[in-house]
Amino acid sequence: MHTPLVLGIETSCDETGLALVRGLDLLVDVTASSMDDHARFGGIVPEVASRAHLEAFEPTLNHALEQAGVALSEVDAIAVTSGPGLVGSLTVGVAAAKSLAFGLGVPLYGVNHVLGHVAVDALVHGPFPPVFIGLVVSGGHTSLLLVRDIATDVVELGQTLDDAAGEAFDKVGRLLGLPYPGGPHVDRLAQDGDRTSFAFPRGLSRPKDQAVHAYNFSFSGLKTAVARVVESFEDAATQVPAADIAASFSEAVADVLIAKTVAACREHEVDTVVIGGGFSANSRLRALAAERFAEAGITLRLPPVRYCTDNGAMIAALGSAVVASGLEPSPWDFTTDSAMELTQVLAST
Ligand code: KG4
Ligand code: ZN
Repeated sequence: MHTPLVLGIETSCDETGLALVRGLDLLVDVTASSMDDHARFGGIVPEVASRAHLEAFEPTLNHALEQAGVALSEVDAIAVTSGPGLVGSLTVGVAAAKSLAFGLGVPLYGVNHVLGHVAVDALVHGPFPPVFIGLVVSGGHTSLLLVRDIATDVVELGQTLDDAAGEAFDKVGRLLGLPYPGGPHVDRLAQDGDRTSFAFPRGLSRPKDQAVHAYNFSFSGLKTAVARVVESFEDAATQVPAADIAASFSEAVADVLIAKTVAACREHEVDTVVIGGGFSANSRLRALAAERFAEAGITLRLPPVRYCTDNGAMIAALGSAVVASGLEPSPWDFTTDSAMELTQVLAST
């Protein structure tokens, strides 16, 4: 039987991502980013991001089709991020996807961006096992999932109660005077620092947190602790040991993410972990995860960095899984949902 060719469209934030997937085969993945337009503002400017998607959409689509040697008419189904994300950015992608699907007469699926960060790993490491723990760490999300089927059976075990991991890095980047987005800069700086210099707190990790918050995260206390240390050096008019702070902070974040993921594997008797999301590009997280999961006898599936940050392949991958599961397409009047719940795979009205 013919495996459907799925076009994936991602426009939830500043990346315009388009990709084509057939089954678990990635034919092409093209991304245009408007990050350079936002960097000088110290954060994403939603109106600027929406306009950039409008400019980039058609050239990026054509580029993807050309590179794959595929005609638009060969597309069998379209998946588009319907949430969570910036409403204006999502709206550009959803409107474009509706136009394309309507014109081509193919089914359209509005899908969950966060689940896409997990789904993409199947394009890299092959079919998922019958059950696994998913850890999604990005600029907007930090969630621990128990996944039996990425299209139909995802249970949220926990999430961050305040900042996301990437967001905490961006804020610490600002404290250390680094350019936006701070995450990659803090990561680079940390590589020259001593991870043991400062004993920063591991949020929600005390015995009394186990009852309710075993799988929830909190990074706001950690961020405040970093701010206090930075201030103490500034007040003393001594040079801030930025690399040591970055390294100790990175260690605290990676440590707590991994410890809770290992605990979730133990409790649910799961032996595979899939990590996704922009923050999984973090070098300390990648190194410590490799070490700790190996020690615990857990198989770690971590896609290459280019599939960790936002891209079209993750949406095409989730679309492909949804199509394979035989789920109904989203209704034509579905809208964007900036706060789409993790338990919701597909957009509804
Ligand atoms: O998944 P993503 O591309 O966008 C969202 O859906 O949020 O994640 C972007 C986030 C930003 O906060 C960025 O600073 C962070 O991931 N990030 C990193 C690294 N690369 C990206 N944080 C720490 N270390 C990195 N190497
Ligand atoms: Zn993302």
